[in-house]
Amino acid sequence: MKDDNFLKENNARHMWHPMTHPADSLANPPRVITGASGVRIRDMEGNEVIDAVGGLWNVNLGYSCDPIKQAIRDQLEALPYYSTFRGTSNDAVIELSYMLREFFAPEGLSRAFFTSGGGDSIEIALRLARQYHKVKGEAGRVKYLSLKKGYHGTHFGGASVNGNANFRAQYEPMLPGCFHTPAPYTYRNQFNESDPEKLAQFCLDALEEEINFQGAHTIAAFVMEPILGAGGVIVPYASFMPGVREICTRHGILMIADEVVTAFGRTGSWTGSRHWGVKPDLMATAKAITNGYFPFGACMISDEIAEVFENDTSGKANVASGYTYSGHPTGAAAAVACIRETKRLNVVENAAARGTQLHQGLLALKEKYDIIGDVRGGEGLMAGIEFVSDRANKTPLDGATAGRIQETIYHAGVMARISGPNMILSPALVISEDDIAAVLAALETGFKAA
Ligand SMILES: Cc1ncc(COP(=O)(O)O)c(C=O)c1O
Repeated sequence: MKDDNFLKENNARHMWHPMTHPADSLANPPRVITGASGVRIRDMEGNEVIDAVGGLWNVNLGYSCDPIKQAIRDQLEALPYYSTFRGTSNDAVIELSYMLREFFAPEGLSRAFFTSGGGDSIEIALRLARQYHKVKGEAGRVKYLSLKKGYHGTHFGGASVNGNANFRAQYEPMLPGCFHTPAPYTYRNQFNESDPEKLAQFCLDALEEEINFQGAHTIAAFVMEPILGAGGVIVPYASFMPGVREICTRHGILMIADEVVTAFGRTGSWTGSRHWGVKPDLMATAKAITNGYFPFGACMISDEIAEVFENDTSGKANVASGYTYSGHPTGAAAAVACIRETKRLNVVENAAARGTQLHQGLLALKEKYDIIGDVRGGEGLMAGIEFVSDRANKTPLDGATAGRIQETIYHAGVMARISGPNMILSPALVISEDDIAAVLAALETGFKAA
């Protein structure tokens, strides 16, 4: 490994970072993270802080999960790679698919299509949704509906159903046939409605109206996150996702749950769909499936879809989609160990308890600091703080001030994430009560100094 001087000198000069202007990386070299243990990360300068971001919503079990590390080492020794394209498989991925079938049995999701990450999982879900309708003889069902403010990655399919202009504007035109309906975002919405239950119904009505406008017979699928993550942790009212499910079923539209963030315990339930009592037709997963230790994902497929594909005799159900790393044995071994550990630790319990602690703490901070316009969360360990410069007018806080707040918080011992006017918190699900208290104390230091 190169020494610190080399790292400082070359920091970000020869690479472009995701979600960043290349000139900004040059002007403001990123923090170089060189080590981690438990729920803490260490940078090149020797600072050690609590990672309240949990990697990127993925390191649910923290940085010291030895069973996963060992499984990766062992698999690298036994079989570091082989493809699962037609004609070959591997032992690790067979074990994983069996395990996932059991894990997702309450949702009735019984088949897995393996991927290299969240964007891939969404992409294959979108593809399979269209294909399902074609196999069934409804080739006209090609459009996709999704929520404004939703985040589904930056592949062209995912970006097209993405509900934030930021990820689209410089890359348009997007995929044709993608339409967006309002998100149940109580703090700001076109209905001027702050009651979450009423707002959920307005959004359901808007979805139904869009379906009627487009014609249900032209729509393949509706895509949503059970709790919108990157859009600022927007928590729908409990009636919303079941309402979407009912509308989709009535119109023959497939429901894709994007659970890249929410699957495997983050909401305090094992999946976001289960949290709201919903069975989706397809589910995109990734991130915490390997605790972030290996790039991997799975698109889960319902019994009903599986039946249509597996009983097809026309040839239309041939899955002409896949990735070199679909079913990667090392990723699969990591996932097997990760799911085993996730279940053994019963992380949902701690996620729910620590999520409530975090949410209550943030609500208390909102009472003290006007810079906090809105606090969102309370359903497991995902929290959003929306900053404003003027509470009465809900004027979004400028990026420079938000950046300074983040910096102060870092020096108070906590890594927090800024995304637009929002601060997003998604610590490891194994975080302790004392560490959540330390996160809240560091946040307060940042808000006080703002
Ligand atoms: C809900 C959701 N879907 C999809 C993605 C894309 O996943 P990836 O970045 O692994 O491609 C993300 C990433 O954060 C996500 O939060």
